[in-house]
This record gives sequence, structure tokens and C-alpha cells, in this order.
Amino acid sequence: MSDTSTVDKGARSFYQRAYEDADAHPEAFWMEQSRRIQWHKAPQKALSSNTHGGHDWYADAELNTAWLALDAQVAAGRGDQAALIYDSPVTQSQQTITFSQLTQRVSKLAGALASLGVQRGDRVVIYMPMVPEAVIGMLACARLGAIHSVVFGGFAAHELAVRIDDAKPRVVLSASCGIEVDKVIRYKPLLDNALSAASHQPDACLILQRPQAKAELQEGRDHDWMTLELQSAPVDAVPVKATDPLYILYTSGTTGKPKGVVRDNGGHAVAMHYSMEVVYGMRPGEVFWAASDVGWVVGHSYIVYGPLIYGCTSVLYEGKPVKTPDAGAFWRVISEHKVTALFTAPTAFRAVKKEDPNGEQMARYDLSCLKRLFLAGERLDPPTYHWLKERTGLPVLDHWWQTETGWAIACNPVGLEVMEEKPGSATVPTPGFHVSVLDPDGQPCAPTQQGAVCIRQPLPPGCLQTIWQDDQRFLTSYLSAYPGYYLTGDGGYFDEEGFLFVMGRIDDVINVAGHRLSTGEMEEIVASHPAVAECAVFAIDDELKGQVPLGLVVLKDGCEQTEQAVCEELVALVRAQIGAVACFKQAQVVPRLPKTRSGKILRRTLRQLANGEDYAVPSTIDDPAVLDELAERLNQPPG
Ligand code: COA
Ligand code: AMP
Repeated sequence: MSDTSTVDKGARSFYQRAYEDADAHPEAFWMEQSRRIQWHKAPQKALSSNTHGGHDWYADAELNTAWLALDAQVAAGRGDQAALIYDSPVTQSQQTITFSQLTQRVSKLAGALASLGVQRGDRVVIYMPMVPEAVIGMLACARLGAIHSVVFGGFAAHELAVRIDDAKPRVVLSASCGIEVDKVIRYKPLLDNALSAASHQPDACLILQRPQAKAELQEGRDHDWMTLELQSAPVDAVPVKATDPLYILYTSGTTGKPKGVVRDNGGHAVAMHYSMEVVYGMRPGEVFWAASDVGWVVGHSYIVYGPLIYGCTSVLYEGKPVKTPDAGAFWRVISEHKVTALFTAPTAFRAVKKEDPNGEQMARYDLSCLKRLFLAGERLDPPTYHWLKERTGLPVLDHWWQTETGWAIACNPVGLEVMEEKPGSATVPTPGFHVSVLDPDGQPCAPTQQGAVCIRQPLPPGCLQTIWQDDQRFLTSYLSAYPGYYLTGDGGYFDEEGFLFVMGRIDDVINVAGHRLSTGEMEEIVASHPAVAECAVFAIDDELKGQVPLGLVVLKDGCEQTEQAVCEELVALVRAQIGAVACFKQAQVVPRLPKTRSGKILRRTLRQLANGEDYAVPSTIDDPAVLDELAERLNQPPG
């Protein structure tokens, strides 16, 4: 009964019809959807098996994603419509770029990249702050059929180096600096350090000089972005196979090595178009704002590709929900740019709620343009849902997805019909996603019974094709746990009415302020400190960020440093290796960690204990007394 194919649906509504058609006849359903975008060579066949162990969509078709997002919009009469509205409170500037202007800039930058030797299939790493050039860079790669890999600006040099070594880019695009509220973060030294650490070296780096900090350019390797862009001749879009990769986006897995999620061109374009209409209920010409970062999947799908492919205007916001300059920032942007729908992470609204609980900042703005609020990136906690609902009176729509899927697995499909909002639920599976909650034996769970949330294969268009250069990891991470299903890594349940509740990860991935991070990776870094004998890093609840990491460490005998000194070094080490975004600010020394008799650290029990939750003492525990010892150290009542 927790299998969506058996949800009691009664008379077929618009949603049910779409869901059931996509479920029963995926090829026909997605062939029909493919007709809504323009192809250089239209598909004759929708679905086929591929050599990665998964499925391909539209394998015989050809298109160019940047052409679809730009030239096709201009041809359709949108040339003078704003494509991008850049709003940057941190630099106190704004810029509107029309579809015609964006097409011109992208074509010229594509010419610049071509002059540096970039060709179809080459990789280009993009390490940029939230400026229009980040979007222009992504689209310029797509125009050439090159594969971009955007690395979030909050990652440190080491993380950038790991990605450079994996993606092996011909060119890196970057900027002299980013701005975090009032701090200027120099990106170029981070890039230089990353390139010193990396084995792979790109042929060239293109650096956008920002006035807040000029970067030193290395003769022969580094080029000034604007000079090269302005002097380059525009180039036309290169048609690519629908199955050619559009981008690689690295995301945290359970180990220290990030996973390079590979996204295709054709299935992605169809999924973006479909989701703008069905998931977000948008109409071409309206203004969509995803308040995220181009370094995350939300930014890829809904700052860049989705809105532009669908003919919407997209807002690119270089600021925070608070402090730039106050908790009214989001409402200002909405009212100034006539935003129809806003998409952000719950943590952003928790920050706003904390500073403006009574909505006084909100009351300063005319929000009559705003029709809907979308939340994702972490579970929309009921208190934040209720606050938003009471303050805005608008539909407040939780939807669940991940880097791997690229678009919503579950949503309130407002473009088909508006369904009931159940606080805590991401609503229902999106047409195309056959979601099942499975028990450890692979059997569907009963309603309200929690299990592993899985998606029956084939995944719909737009989802990952594989892990970059690692088909085996793709199979073992996602496809082998439950044959025939894709493992999302999330746990959850369906209620009696078929509404899906996604409760959190069942692996070592954590979610800090809507940012996905690996505790496994943090453990590897902490364990590398010479004073550390063993450690465990796990998430504890945080009122603002949802979760934050906590590291418990056991020191080696004879360690001469004070506990405090070791902890400070550990915090600095994780910050230096992963970046500020890891938010690893708490480490604590403990005499020992709870373990099973076979020596496995009991992380789940640790997490429950540290969060002050009730926990059962595991029967496999080696020495139960360690839990009381820890409870005392962490100021928690014993279990
Ligand atoms: N470049 C450099 N540093 C960055 C960065 C970037 N692009 N993004 C974040 N950082 C730094 C921050 O400056 C901060 O550094 P600090 O420890 O020196 O203060 C650290 O990384 C943590 O950043 P963040 O988690 O964003 O915390 P914050 O306290 O600055 O802001 C919120 C908290 C809730 C306001 C903020 O996280 C937010 O707006 N989140 C929205 C969620 C979001 O965009 N999710 C993406 C998926 S939808
Ligand atoms: P990312 O790949 O960074 O987008 O992170 C994906 C993960 O974030 C998912 O696997 C979930 O754990 C979590 N997540 C995203 N959206 C939601 C949501 N609406 N409800 C619950 N968890 C979510």
C-alpha cells in the first residue's frame, strides 16, 4: 500500500491521469512531452537501456540546450524580455539582461572558450560567485557542447582540486572574488592553491575581475574574462546528442570522494520544461526566483535552465535572506522584480522568522505579484510552514528532490491541480516518478511505516545518467540495494492517503542550511589529525540550519596538546579542507566511543544521545556503560 501504484485515487483527477499515464506508458508519455521543445533532430524513440547500467532518454535525438534557452526564445519573440535580473545587495547593483543580450554575450563567450581550444565533450570547471557571468559561462559551455562542472564558491581549495582532478577541465572559469554579506572572499588565491594541489592542469583560466578585489593573473595561463569575451567572435550553437552530458555536478556521498552526477542534454531539457509548468505552475513571461546558488542543483535547474528554456525571467540574487541588509530582503526582491514564484530552502525562512517574527519587514512591501512559495533542500519543518502560511496566506509548497534527480520527485503538482497542503509532507510523487517505500527485505512498507524511499526504474527524463567516470559507483550507490529500484538515500513513509513524508537521510549525508555534506568526509579529515585515535562525526539538530555537524574524538595516548587546542585545530582543518560551508564548529574530546562487539561505532545511538532523544541501548553494544559516560559529557540525560 506504500507503493504509489496502489494509492487509492478514486475518480481520475488531472494529477491522477498524468501520474497513471506516465507510470503505465512512460515511453508514450515522455514522447508526447518531448514535442514541446525544439530539437535539431527530433526523437523517434523515447527510452533505451544504456551502457552505464541505467536508461537513456531520446538516444537518437539531437539538440542544443543553450540554443533552446536563448536563440529559440529570441526567435519566439522574447528578445526584449528580461532573461536574467541580477540583484546584488552586497554590491548595491542591479542589472537586467534581455534574452537578446544574453544570447549575444553567451555566443561571444563561447567564441572565447573555442579560441582557448574548448570543444564538444571537453570539461570546463566554473568556480564563481553569484554574478551573471556564472550563468553566461554555463550557457557558453552548453552552446559548444562542452560539459560544465560548477563548484560552489563556499568550497575550499582542496575540494576544488579534487573536482578538477576528477573532471579534468580544459579551461577553468573563475572570478577575482565573491562577497559574503560584507566580507570579500578572494577566489583567485583559492583557485591558485587548488591548481597547485591538483595533478591535472587546465590549458587556461578565464578570470572575471571584480572591482572589490583585483586578482593577479598568471602569464600564459590566466586571461582577463571581459577582454577575451569582447574581442571574440560569436559562435553558433553546436547540436549534440540528447545523451551527451550537459554537465557534471559533484555532490556529497558517504565517502570523502564526491560523486560527479552526470546530466544529459535531451532528457534534462524535457524535464525542465515539464517541471516549470507542472511543478511550479509557471507561464512563459513570468518571473521565477530560485534563491539558491548556481553551485547547487537548485541553481542549475531553476536559476538557469528551467526558467530560460520555458521562457521565464529568472532572478539571480547575490545576497542572503537576512543581513543584506535586513530580514525584508526577500520581500523587497519579490516586490521590486514582480516575482511570481519564489523557491528557497526552509533554513532561509527560519533565518527571516528569527529576525522578523511578526512580519514587520514583510509588511513594508507590496507582494501582490507573488502567487506561490516553494521550499526544498531539506524537510519543511511544520513550524516554518505554519509561520509562512500565516504570514503570507499563499500556497506554501514543500517538494522533495536531490542533485541526482535534478527535479522534484514529489511535489504538489499545482500546474495540474492544487492538492491539499499537509505540513511535513512533500505531497505526492511527481508524474514520472514511481515512488515506493521499501523495508529491508525489499517489500513495500504499510502506510505510515517508515522505510527506504526508492524510485522504480526507469527514472524519468532529467535524472542522472551515471557518476562521472565511475559506472561501478553509480551501480553500487544507487541501483544494487534493491534490484529494479533507485535508492534515494532518504527514509520516509506514505500516509493512508498516499501523501509522502520524507524524514531524513538514512546514510552519512547531512543537510546543513540546505547544503548537502558528508560526515564520512569530515571524519576522514578529523581522523587525519596526528593526535586523533578515532572519531565520529554526525549531525545534531540546529534551530536555524536544521542540522550542524558535531565531532567526537578520542585522543591517542600520550597526546601532549590540550583538548581545547586539538579541537580548535580540528575545526580549522575541516574549514581549510572542505570550506566554511561545512559549518564544522564543534569538536569534543571523549574518553571512548560506543561500539558494537565487532568494533563498529554506533553512530545512530550517538546521534540520538547527542540530540537528547530517547534511544534503545543496542543489543550489540560492547560496553553499555560508555553511553552513560557520554551522556554526562554531553549534558544529556542517560537513555
Ligand atoms: N562563498 C564563500 N563563502 C561562502 C559562500 C560562498 N558562496 N556561501 C557560504 N559561505 C560561507 C559563509 O560566509 C559562512 O562563513 P562563516 O563561517 O565565516 O560565517 C559559511 O560559509 C556558512 O554559510 P551558510 O551556511 O550560508 O551560513 P550563514 O550563517 O552565512 O547563513 C543562512 C545562514 C540560513 C542565511 C544561509 O545558509 C542561507 O541563506 N541559506 C539558504 C539556503 C540555500 O541557499 N540552500 C541551497 C540549496 S536550495
Ligand atoms: P541535494 O542533493 O543537495 O539537493 O540534497 C538532497 C537531499 O536533501 C535529499 O536526499 C534529502 O535528504 C534532502 N531534501 C531535499 N528536499 C527535501 C524535502 N523537501 N524534504 C525532505 N528532505 C529534502
